[in-house]
Amino acid sequence: MFLEIIGLVVFVVFAIMFAIFWFDFKSGNGKLPEAFIQAKKNGTIDPKLIRIFKSYPDKQRFMLFWLQVKRIQACKLDGDLAELGVYKGDTAQILHLMAPEKRIHLFDTFTGFDEADLINEKGEAATYTPQHFADTSLEKVKTKLGHSELIHYYPGNFSDQSTRLSDQKFCLASLDADLAKPTAEGLRFFYDRLVPAGLLIVHDYNQKWPALMEAVNEFVKQIPENPVLIPDKDTSLVIVKNST
Ligand SMILES: C[S@@+](CC[C@H](N)C(=O)[O-])C[C@H]1O[C@@H](n2cnc3c(N)ncnc32)[C@H](O)[C@@H]1O
Repeated sequence: MFLEIIGLVVFVVFAIMFAIFWFDFKSGNGKLPEAFIQAKKNGTIDPKLIRIFKSYPDKQRFMLFWLQVKRIQACKLDGDLAELGVYKGDTAQILHLMAPEKRIHLFDTFTGFDEADLINEKGEAATYTPQHFADTSLEKVKTKLGHSELIHYYPGNFSDQSTRLSDQKFCLASLDADLAKPTAEGLRFFYDRLVPAGLLIVHDYNQKWPALMEAVNEFVKQIPENPVLIPDKDTSLVIVKNST
C-alpha cells in the first residue's frame, strides 16, 4: 500500500511537470521576455508575427529586434529602418511587421554575392561564391512582404545603391551581408545617419567570419560608443548612437 501511494505521488508530479512543459511548448511562452508575453495576451502583436516567431530559427535574435523596435516606438525615435543583406526577406518581414508605420529600406543584390566583394575574405566567407544566396529574387521578396508604400528596395551592390539616399535618417539598421566590405561600408553609411539613441545591429560577429570581425573592430575604434554583444545564435553586435 505504502509503495502504491509513493508510485501515485511520483506519477502525479511527473504528470504536472509534463503538463507545464507541454503548455510552454505549445504556447511558445517558455523563456520569453515578460513584455512579449503580456503583449501577446493583450492582443497587441500582429498574429502573423506570432506565427513567424514560432518557426523563426533564432528566438534570441527575434527578441533582440522586437525589444529594440518596442524601445524605438516607446521613445518615439525618428528615422527609418534598414537592412543590408535581405536574402529571402525573413528578417525584413519581421521588422516590417513589428513597425509597419516606419519606412524600411532594403538593400541586397537579390542575385547572390558580388564576386568583387569576395576578394580578401577569410574563414567561412572565403568559401563563398557568387552562387551563394543566389536562390532568391526581388520579386519573391516583394511577394513575401506584401505591398506597402513604406517599403523601398535597392537591388544591386550596396556601394552603388546607397548613393540613391542622401539625407535619410535611420533609427535601426540591421547589417547582415556576411562579408567584410559591405559591412564596413554599411557601418559608416548608417552610423553617420543614425538618430541619437538609434542602433546598428551587426549579425555574425564571430570567429567564423574573421574579416567581418576585423572590419567591425576597426570601425568601433573610430567611434565614441562601446559595442554590446548579444548571445544569439551567431552573435550580434549592437551599437547604440550616443545622444550627445
Ligand atoms: C546572410 S544573407 C542575409 C539573410 C537575411 N538577413 C535574413 O535574415 O534572412 C546575406 C545577404 O547579403 C547580400 N549581400 C552581400 N553583399 C552585398 C552587397 N555588397 N550589396 C548588397 N547585398 C549584399 C547577399 O546577396 C545575401 O542575400
